[in-house]
Amino acid sequence: MIRHFLRDDDISPAEQSTVLDLAARMKADRFGHRPLAGPRSVAVLFDKQSLRTRFSFDVGIAELGGHPLVVDTQVTHFGRGETLIDAGRVLSRYVVAIVLRTHGDDRIAEVAAGASVPVVNALTDGFHPCQLLADLLTIRERCGGTAGRTLTYVGDGANNMAQSYLLAGAMAGMHVRIAGPEGFVPDPDVVARAAEIAVGTGGSVRVLTDPVQAVRDADVVATDTWTSMGQEADGLDRITPFLPYQVNKELLGQAAPDAVVLHCLPAHRGEEITDEVLDGPQSAVFDQAENRLHAQKALLTFLLNANAADKAAADT
Ligand code: CP
Ligand code: NVA
Repeated sequence: MIRHFLRDDDISPAEQSTVLDLAARMKADRFGHRPLAGPRSVAVLFDKQSLRTRFSFDVGIAELGGHPLVVDTQVTHFGRGETLIDAGRVLSRYVVAIVLRTHGDDRIAEVAAGASVPVVNALTDGFHPCQLLADLLTIRERCGGTAGRTLTYVGDGANNMAQSYLLAGAMAGMHVRIAGPEGFVPDPDVVARAAEIAVGTGGSVRVLTDPVQAVRDADVVATDTWTSMGQEADGLDRITPFLPYQVNKELLGQAAPDAVVLHCLPAHRGEEITDEVLDGPQSAVFDQAENRLHAQKALLTFLLNANAADKAAADT
């Protein structure tokens, strides 16, 4: 079985910690790790727009000694005239890993079903697990660790970031609180899975509607756009019900005095977060963006090693 990274919980909590340890080492010795030397190639495919993910994978794969192939899927036959399973099969003959940003989670699952190399989720409608590795690395740096800390996310509780905070935060032993307006709540299956993980890590999960209650005494306050890619014309009012969830000075004042502010970016300044907070002393958002690079280099290295070890065991 190939190890993929389609959701945060495709690795164990111990493996998450291993990846974050490696990310920190790679950050400290940025050009000292070249597991893709050869060069071995990695396909990085986009069905949706990107700045951070595109550049951090491109740069990261090159820094690992590899050859990044960053491609917008519109110029391929991807999912149009060629099944995603076949695309996964074909790409596996050229590259050692496939990184994909796409729409439904069913699409990346189809690619993975055909692939004989690891497939990495670079954002789907359901999850953004690479972002969470960067967020957790940032929390480790700013808070000295993750276990036992309270991580509050306010905004669209139904989106990919909220769901990844639930899973990855619980895996890291955090007390995760998600707060959004009625109707913008995470998938109950994801909440249940996160709660199950939290039992084993000492963390906890709560879904609330009251932003003040959610933020009170939190160590980390995170938010994200109220309108994710692909939701621009979904007919929902994505402003009015969200206004009480804006991360501004007043709401942040409810958190722990030195609480860290996260936002995966791009930010819609003046909507989900104010300039004052985003550019303020508690904001870690640009470290967070940089940490995409280090976390993804570590993840790719981990997945390639894990799959090589599994193959060696199967061959003996
Ligand atoms: N945070 C993030 O994934 O940014 P991009 O959409 O620019 O890749
Ligand atoms: N929730 C956002 C994250 C962007 C990085 C989106 O899916 O558009």
